Amino acid sequence: MSLIECRNINRYFGEGDNCVHILKDVSLNIEKGDFIAIIGQSGSGKSTLMNILGCLDTATSGSYKIDGVETAHMSGDELAALRRRKFGFIFQRYNLLGALSARDNVALPSVYAGLEQKAREERANRLLADLGLSGKEDNRPNQLSGGQQQRVSIARALMNGGEIILADEPTGALDSGSGEMVMEIIRELHQKGHTIILVTHDPNIAAFANRVIEIKDGEIIADTSKNTEIAPSSVESVPENTSWLFYKDQFVEAFKMSVQAILAHKMRSLLTMLGIIIGIASVVSVVALGRGTQEKVLADISAIGTNTISVYPGKSFGDRTRHRIRTLTVADANAISKQSYVDSVTPMTSSSGTVTYRNTDVTAQIYGAGEQYFTVRGIKLDRGRLFDDDEVAAGAQVVVIDPNTQKQLFPRDVDPIGQTILFKKRPLTVIGISSADQSGFGGDNLQMWAPYTTVMQRITGESHINSITVKIKDDVSTAVAEQGLKELLLARHGKEDFFTNNSDSIKKTVESTMGAMTLLISSIAVISLVVGGIGVMNIMLVSVTERTKEIGVRMAIGARQGNILQQFLIEAVLICLIGGLTGILLSYIIGALFNAFVSDFAMSFSTLSIVLAVLCSSAIGVLFGFMPAKNASQLNPIEALSRD
Ligand SMILES: Nc1ncnc2c1ncn2[C@@H]1O[C@H](COP(=O)(O)OP(=O)(O)OP(=O)(O)O)[C@@H](O)[C@H]1O
Ligand SMILES: [Mg+2]
Repeated sequence: MSLIECRNINRYFGEGDNCVHILKDVSLNIEKGDFIAIIGQSGSGKSTLMNILGCLDTATSGSYKIDGVETAHMSGDELAALRRRKFGFIFQRYNLLGALSARDNVALPSVYAGLEQKAREERANRLLADLGLSGKEDNRPNQLSGGQQQRVSIARALMNGGEIILADEPTGALDSGSGEMVMEIIRELHQKGHTIILVTHDPNIAAFANRVIEIKDGEIIADTSKNTEIAPSSVESVPENTSWLFYKDQFVEAFKMSVQAILAHKMRSLLTMLGIIIGIASVVSVVALGRGTQEKVLADISAIGTNTISVYPGKSFGDRTRHRIRTLTVADANAISKQSYVDSVTPMTSSSGTVTYRNTDVTAQIYGAGEQYFTVRGIKLDRGRLFDDDEVAAGAQVVVIDPNTQKQLFPRDVDPIGQTILFKKRPLTVIGISSADQSGFGGDNLQMWAPYTTVMQRITGESHINSITVKIKDDVSTAVAEQGLKELLLARHGKEDFFTNNSDSIKKTVESTMGAMTLLISSIAVISLVVGGIGVMNIMLVSVTERTKEIGVRMAIGARQGNILQQFLIEAVLICLIGGLTGILLSYIIGALFNAFVSDFAMSFSTLSIVLAVLCSSAIGVLFGFMPAKNASQLNPIEALSRD
């Protein structure tokens, strides 16, 4: 059995009218350990035959066996395995990877074969030293002369054993001195037992060979051997490793190569990331802003008092007739206060009018309330005192003012406590000043509070009230209490001319409004993420096109489709992930700036939104990186190699 057996190999290129017949019924056997030169004119089909022999290309028809195994129906990965184990390629133009050092270039075939890193580097160093390149291990290809580069590529061909060395015009790009050196090395390899197949059109180089095959127009026209006796071959081949460590190693290598690729195009990678950065930063910031606002509003609501129910006249806040309904009275409030589930009750009335102090006039809102009002509403006292139940019962002419009113009404040097002011010409004595409004609901209005009896009897002269605020006992459910209140008032009024509103429902409304807002803005941000993802896809497609040759080289030295897919996918995910993390960082910076300048409320970052952002950016990487990576992995090795 011969090492290589070809039977009636035909190779056509193109289709239909453009179809050309390049190899015509080529049959040949090659024995183990032979040294063969294929010669012929330019365009005669030498390289085409060589590519088929090296499993880089497949014949259109015919049979090609290596060690008796038919290759015609092998899958891409099976052919890659053959290239890895059996062949070592030496190209006319070296085809080294520019981003890798000489050592890494040499070691690359073993990465795909799964040799451990240390063993790999030792072997690569030894091969380089054998070829007279000690000291040049860390040089990149562009830091080496042509002859040195060709020797690096020979070392690479030997890395996995290189039982069969395929050399397509190995001296074609070299000066005569370097060419002779390379031929000397090839001759030595033959003596060590490697099978050599060399393509050349130089008769002097063909003279090194034991057997010369001449091709013309795709047919073998001569086949001459000098010596029929061939020394027994003794080539060490590197065993393949398939433990899980192998997968880890492949991943680590693919990761390193992706980082190199990203670093090699810093600006482009950065611009690609920009879309992801903006998308992620806006999602995370918007969610944080929404949460911050929500927390603030909910805190304000709890400041008002958690389980309170307010009763208003009319059907709802939107009811235009509600100001004319006068059926809600102090008597209702008293009846409510007798219920078992009620903690406290505050009837409320209000009026707005002119307040006068000496010759200063301002317009203010006066609230008539019970003494418990301040507790229920969470209003704090800054100075002085609040009115008590005796004063409420007596309709005392006392008033608590807010700091705004103090500022507008009193000169700086006057202490308002104890002063008498006029509200709608009725005298009231200032007994306290509230602290600045905590809830944020007060706005810039001037507000003051007096006992509701005082306001009703002495100022408005009305007997109905604007609202009743009921504080429910802590252990009673708001819903049950609300139902009880409704039934009580219905019995008293005979019809439903009132409505209730509890702080729970306000809370729910706020939460759902905020949720809707966050969803809305997040969906806009998601659009920007998708646009960013398309940017990533675009760049990956460019990257694949730009690196087609590199992909071809990797395939020639035995990379599986999976290796190529993995490498480009990791690159895409890495770009998105770095973009995502930068976006998160950016939103933290925005948050810090925001919190430094806006004291009202803070942006509140949630772990969930950050985890989601990271997952989201990786998913975009996989999603939009898959298509270009898949394209790359399915390239035909020989087409990829011939690309510039
Ligand atoms: N992918 C392809 N599509 C179409 N035609 C092709 C393709 N590859 C090679 N050919 C044609 O096949 C013929 C043989 O090409 P090949 O590269 O094998 O020549 P060669 O003998 O190696 O020549 P040289 O000495 O110049 O390298 C040429 O005429 C070329 O135009
Ligand atoms: Mg050629």
